[in-house]
This record gives sequence, structure tokens and C-alpha cells, in this order.
Amino acid sequence: MSEAAAQRTLVLVKPDGVGRGLTGEVLRRIEAKGYRLVALDMREATTELLEQHYAEHLGKPFYGPLVEFMMSGPVVALVVEGHEVIAGFRSLAGTTDPTSAAPGTIRGDLGRAWGTAVVQNLVHGSDSPESAAREIGLWFPAL
Ligand code: PPS
Repeated sequence: MSEAAAQRTLVLVKPDGVGRGLTGEVLRRIEAKGYRLVALDMREATTELLEQHYAEHLGKPFYGPLVEFMMSGPVVALVVEGHEVIAGFRSLAGTTDPTSAAPGTIRGDLGRAWGTAVVQNLVHGSDSPESAAREIGLWFPAL
């Protein structure tokens, strides 16, 4: 595969992942799969950034709790590159709900059942090439 064919995705280690000391484990799984880290930054997400990032979910019942959760602590933002990495990372991450995420996935192995209104599922990964381009532009405008 040529470098030009490589795809990029935006990954976020969410505040529960950073707070529980799981950033290194998430990075390990990404690199062990053969993906390449292109950018990495720990930061406190602002309301403005999250409103843009989650714009498609505006109006859904979980929107407010999700934005609040994402501001509850630092996140680690990553740009990851590799063959079909958008689908590949979502496969590594597992399904949204950690309770039903498959063993072997980040959420299935490490995600906790939450029992609150807020799903704390450790990571975010872009869901399409269009989302990846938009999200990478928001989080890493210099790339
Ligand atoms: S949807 O409506 O099918 O697009 O939603 P889904 O893909 O399952 O989730 C979209 C993002 O919203 C997060 N989510 C939640 N956060 C907090 N609380 C609740 N109840 C909740 N439900 C969904 C989910 O983790 C997704 O976040 P990202 O950051 O995109 O992974």
C-alpha cells in the first residue's frame, strides 16, 4: 500500500480513559494494529469545539450530558493513519455501549457499565471519511 492511499481518522481518548490511566493502553492497541500516530495532543475541550464536533447530535437526549462529560477532564486527541483506519479503529473500539461491546475491543475489555445517563465509553473514532476530514480540521487545523 502506498503512503498516498493511507486513510486518516480522529481518535479521542475521552475523560474517563485519561482519568483511569488508559491512554497508554489505547495507544498500544492502535500501534499494535499497525496504525501510525500522526498527531497527539492532550487538551481541555471547550464548549465551542465540542458543539462543532458533536453538531450532528444536537437535539438528541444525550447531547447535553455528552458535552458536559467531555468537559469533565482532559482528553487526548489523536490523528491516526493506516489502511481503512476509520472502520478499523471503530472495530478496535467496539460498539458504543461497553456492556455489550465484544471482548477483545477497547470498550469490551476496559469500558465500565455506567448506570448513569452518560455513556462513558473511553474513546471516540470518526465514523466516515467526511467526518474524519471535518473532525481533523477542528482538532488539528494545522494538519
Ligand atoms: S447515534 O444517535 O446512533 O448517532 O448515536 P451513537 O452513535 O450511539 O452515539 C453518538 C455519540 O454519542 C455518545 N452517546 C452518549 N454519550 C453520553 N450519554 C449517552 N447516553 C450517550 N449515548 C450516546 C456516544 O458515545 C457517541 O460518542 P462518540 O464520541 O461519537 O463516540
